[in-house]
Amino acid sequence: MAEKLTFTMIKPTAFKNNNTGAILKMINEAGFTIKAMKLTRLTPALAGEFYAIHKGKPFYDALVQFMSSGPIVAALLEKENAVEDYRTLIGATNPDNAAEGTIRKLYATSFQQNAVHGSDSDENANLEADFFFSKTERI
Ligand code: CMP
Repeated sequence: MAEKLTFTMIKPTAFKNNNTGAILKMINEAGFTIKAMKLTRLTPALAGEFYAIHKGKPFYDALVQFMSSGPIVAALLEKENAVEDYRTLIGATNPDNAAEGTIRKLYATSFQQNAVHGSDSDENANLEADFFFSKTERI
């Protein structure tokens, strides 16, 4: 049921600003069920691997540095139409373009520090979930 799953990370700045509870509340109230979750910290190598698709882009090195700068919360979420509905909930990648009431509009502090990551396809949701969670870490 790949189309029912998406993956998210609450990024270091949002975690540091104690926005984790508010963001998880928005996720639950939007109808997503948490299927796996962990508080962790990425090494630069792991952050680089996670964002390997962006390697070579002007923002890549700074993104890797930022994503390994502090704790993050990783979670696997379930809902019908999960990928698309979660992207609607979080808003545009650049918070300047994010709709009112979205997670990024409320909690992002910059394009790079945009509060949360959300998978952009069912295929990537599965890859990203596998990156963080073993079978026994999922319900
Ligand atoms: P995310 O959804 O985690 O996927 C890739 C991340 O790269 C994105 O959110 C932003 O944090 C960051 N990013 C993408 N484009 C830019 C950009 N032009 N400038 C700075 N950061 C960017």
